[in-house]
Amino acid sequence: MCDSDTAIEKGVITKAAEALRRGDLVAFPTETVYGLGADARNEDAVRRIFQVKGRPSSNPLIVHVASTSEIFRYADLSRSFAPKLLRARLEKLSPLWPGPLSVVLPRGQEIADAVSGGGTTVALRIPNHPLALALLRKFDGPVAAPSANISEYVSPTTAEHVRSGLGSKIACVLDGGPCSVGLESTVLSLIEETPLILRPGAITKDQLQATLETEVLRAPFAATESALKLSPGLLAKHYSPSTPVCFESALTELSPAPKKIGAIIFQPRELAFQATQIRLLSQHGHLEEVAMHLFAALRELDQMALDLIVVDTCEPIGLGEAIMDRLLRATK
Ligand code: TXA
Ligand code: MG
Repeated sequence: MCDSDTAIEKGVITKAAEALRRGDLVAFPTETVYGLGADARNEDAVRRIFQVKGRPSSNPLIVHVASTSEIFRYADLSRSFAPKLLRARLEKLSPLWPGPLSVVLPRGQEIADAVSGGGTTVALRIPNHPLALALLRKFDGPVAAPSANISEYVSPTTAEHVRSGLGSKIACVLDGGPCSVGLESTVLSLIEETPLILRPGAITKDQLQATLETEVLRAPFAATESALKLSPGLLAKHYSPSTPVCFESALTELSPAPKKIGAIIFQPRELAFQATQIRLLSQHGHLEEVAMHLFAALRELDQMALDLIVVDTCEPIGLGEAIMDRLLRATK
């Protein structure tokens, strides 16, 4: 294991970069969730990511780089519907990097086919985390990394989450403490003329519209065939703990009534039902804190042999859109 709080000083980053160069997998922290990384140019290493996660090979991976110039390098803008417009859009988006935004672009030739899940596009992002950036700079290449969890389980927001799910299968887990954002990045497709949000995240639709100075659409939630073609990650069921999850409004419909209930609440409040475990995500209902602590709370309650997890809701606006997207998937 390469885990250490002082990874940069201890030369652990150097070891992790060497592991990537050998074609091994390295788990590393980002500001959103922990990623399971491999050299995005190495077909075999990328295939191993799919094996270790149990992920369908048709579900494409996000490629992490350290700079905007590498986004231009690993995409092929010449294959776009309008290369000049796309370049201008990427330049407008660049103040949002490093940050929780992935953009889907025509794939450049250096990126392994397996990254794209059978398609011809690639999602790229610059993560905003000192360890991730140190690793990417040391490695000096593109790193394909999905969330470092078993496919369809809740994404990991601590190194311990990664170890509990995948620990025995990967050589190296860099420990950067808990992730500060806590929800996966916004995925924005720039393939068509109208930019399309495939997955909401901490970079919101309003922010993207203001930055791009153009209309941005949101892909439909349900796993319709057309939505799945756009991005297999839009599968309705996703991010689910093993324990059933529901909203309070659905509680009365359940028969027989669940005995052991865990409650996840967004701010201090009275509960209208009996809960054996309560997790409070924010003292003042701040959505940034809710997002940061949500996955850890779901994982923790999932370990407690409960019959049900009941979770609060919020307005699906701004960051609330991403929170509700993940929760709706967890309740499926
Ligand atoms: O915050 C994040 O994005 C984290 C960290 C590690 O960077 N990564 C992450 O990766 O959440 P993953 O694989 O769990 O989710 C990637 C999402 C999936 O929904 C996938 O379908 C979509 O991005 N995606 C990736 N490449 C795509 C492409 N070329 N076209 C359409 N969707 C793509
Ligand atoms: Mg994932």
